[in-house]
Amino acid sequence: MTGVSRASSGPLAGLPLLEDLPDLSGRRVLVRVDFNVPIGHLPGERPMVADDFRIRSALPTLRWLREHGAEVTACSHLGRPKGKVDARFDVAPVRERLAELAPGVDLLENLRFSPGEEGNDPAFVDALVDGFSAYVNDAFGSSHRAHASIVGPPARLPSAAGRLLAREVEVLGSLLVAPARPFVALVGGAKVADKLGVLRSLLTRVDTLVVGGGMAFTFLSAQGHRVGASLVDAGHVEDCRALLAEAGDRILLPTDVVALAPGGTVGEDTAGRGEVRMYGLEIPDGWRGLDIGPESAGTFADVVTDAGTVFWNGPMGAFEDDRFAAGTRALATAAAETKGFSVVGGGDTVAALDHMSLGNEVGYVSTGGGASLELLEHGDLPGLEALRGAPNAPAVS
Ligand code: 3PG
Ligand code: MG
Repeated sequence: MTGVSRASSGPLAGLPLLEDLPDLSGRRVLVRVDFNVPIGHLPGERPMVADDFRIRSALPTLRWLREHGAEVTACSHLGRPKGKVDARFDVAPVRERLAELAPGVDLLENLRFSPGEEGNDPAFVDALVDGFSAYVNDAFGSSHRAHASIVGPPARLPSAAGRLLAREVEVLGSLLVAPARPFVALVGGAKVADKLGVLRSLLTRVDTLVVGGGMAFTFLSAQGHRVGASLVDAGHVEDCRALLAEAGDRILLPTDVVALAPGGTVGEDTAGRGEVRMYGLEIPDGWRGLDIGPESAGTFADVVTDAGTVFWNGPMGAFEDDRFAAGTRALATAAAETKGFSVVGGGDTVAALDHMSLGNEVGYVSTGGGASLELLEHGDLPGLEALRGAPNAPAVS
């Protein structure tokens, strides 16, 4: 069961796969996984993994290695402890869940407890690979980071892309090569600054770019609309204006919004937290747009339903508050119902799908948010580049 085959061209070309590793019986194998998972803190109970999607996604690789006789040690980061030991980011809850799902697989302590991980310190890499005979990268969600555990080991050990990494690259790579048309990208979330590069790059590939979520207000502001107290990144209004001037006919923005009254608050517990109203594109002073409105949701959903390929990253609104969830819910339903191939990535977006029990209904759920965006933007990732340089990497004709 691989679902992944050797390719001489395309995104998998030159990547060593598990079959390219030397005999593993009795050997120690280091596997970089992305177990950066949400940890739940219920009062009075010990911390627990709140969503094990990323852990379950690595199991085929961990099992394959065990079946081939390897002694398997996994390693991951958890959160952003910034190079210092910090009990809040202890991997103990992750280790506990892993022991249930993959008994016998070890998990090292949080890689980011050491500054050498993010600093890509060669001495840290040496210490990390010490005693291991092979390295596997199955951490798609982290492969856009040129960190020690991602880019260091392939220069030192026979290495391979794990099943998850290879599948992610195959699926996201297919969007770069020959996506079924029309190809629609749906991008939301709060921060426009983080996504301008990928928006620019997506516009060279897609037929329609739908922009929703908090980031839409910087575009609406660039068009001269009054956005009230909605989130606007003043430093990037010009960039949005330039994108609209270049490709405005292919960019679809909201035409109505759901807004919260001045002084209102957003949260899961919504009782008495301010008045909510629908507005067109002239939002009064002090009101904050927190979801796309019903007209926009209908228009966006139609575009998604009629697409040949859909790529979705970023929620349409503050969906954790039920009053602002309708837009994201409408798009999740459309992504599940479209006859086209839909690919969804990003922790928030996937959480929204799960919340609506639609996780199994879309074409593919990626374990990577930033990584999937960067792969689409640049066509490659530091982690993949490192694997292609491994001593056992296949030659590319
Ligand atoms: C993620 O969840 O985005 C990945 O695990 C990478 O984490 P990072 O954004 O902190 O590098
Ligand atoms: Mg991230």
